[in-house]
Amino acid sequence: MRIAVTGGAGYIGSHTCTLLLAAGHDVLIIDNFNNSKSDVLDRIEKVAGVRPRINQTDITQADALSAVFSDYRPDAVLHFAGLKAVGEAVENPLEYYRVNVGGSVSLFQAMENVGCNKIVFSSSATVYGDPDQVPIVENHPLRPTNPYGQSKRYVEKILEDWGQANSNLAAVNLRYFNPFGAHPTALLGENPQGIPNNLMPYVAQVATGQAAELLVFGDDYDTPDGTGVRDYIHVMDLAAAHLKALDLTVRKAGVKAINVGTGNGYSVMQMINAFKRASNREIPYRVVDRRPGDIAECVADPSFAFELLGWKSELGLERMCADAWSYQNSLK
Ligand code: NAD
Ligand code: WQD
Repeated sequence: MRIAVTGGAGYIGSHTCTLLLAAGHDVLIIDNFNNSKSDVLDRIEKVAGVRPRINQTDITQADALSAVFSDYRPDAVLHFAGLKAVGEAVENPLEYYRVNVGGSVSLFQAMENVGCNKIVFSSSATVYGDPDQVPIVENHPLRPTNPYGQSKRYVEKILEDWGQANSNLAAVNLRYFNPFGAHPTALLGENPQGIPNNLMPYVAQVATGQAAELLVFGDDYDTPDGTGVRDYIHVMDLAAAHLKALDLTVRKAGVKAINVGTGNGYSVMQMINAFKRASNREIPYRVVDRRPGDIAECVADPSFAFELLGWKSELGLERMCADAWSYQNSLK
């Protein structure tokens, strides 16, 4: 198939592109390199043996995007492009809605113009907000607590509405839990610019000595050791879920939301210890107050993904930490 991959130069998109190319798909990455670098294309090529096409377009530029679609005429779209920092979204909600919602609408319009009706969208477990119970099932109420999460919810809703109007639309909203890890070759991984927002990239920087200590945000949650519990998923497992979701769009029209997690929850302390084992380094930490807006626990019920896609996670915590550590060392 001819697959347009928005945000394909980013962390999750680049890993997914390696699998798409290896499966024989023709891949066009559409990325403005706002949060990635063009050398990722060489790395994808090294891993997959094939170089993806690239078009450096901003998804919010509707006319330019439509021109790319008229030229490439994709069979399907994987839509990763967007902004993803929760704190930044709280400070600048309009920019998050402009890029994440406005950019998505431009994209859907460009798809409609060329009769492309298959899409897999990068949603997030953040659409659930503070869950009533864990593990979380897809029909749990959606109550995102910040503009980033709202932007994901709105895009899901726009796809639902588009699906009501167009019975040929096949859309899969993949609700990722907490992606972590790197490509086993250490050629691809997550290399955030500046101070990392998320726990594990920060832990990796403490392990190398780039950051002095980790701040643990609260140890008084109602969890076994008091620290926050999350469902960390290996980025290669997540990438594999996209190929299964793409298969579903070929088999069936309709709009579906699917959790992509492992079903296993680990606390901040468990993650620190797992990374200590993988890196054989000390991870100094200090417990501080809770981070505003954080929740105690967020763990997927991944059974719908297995039922509908035949997908389940295969790579465990040790592998996530080992691959992330190899990648971190490769950056030196
Ligand atoms: P990332 O920042 O590494 O990748 C996003 C890519 O999109 C980058 O290459 C960036 O340059 C590109 N981009 C941003 N704005 C663009 C624009 N206007 N036009 C074209 N390209 C643009 O992020 P990621 O971690 O790979 O996340 C991919 C998607 O998954 C995002 O939509 C994110 O919201 C979602 N998601 C991520 C996580 C996570 O923890 N990483 C969790 C849940 C959902
Ligand atoms: C995990 C745990 C923190 C940093 C966020 C977004 C979510 C999704 C994934 C995109 C929590 C604790 C963290 C630190 C810490 N992104 N922590 N010290 O909050 O589950 O989800 O990223 O969709 O939308 O909200 O992930 O990695 O930030 O935090 O103690 O320096 O680690 O309190 O318990 P989170 P995270």
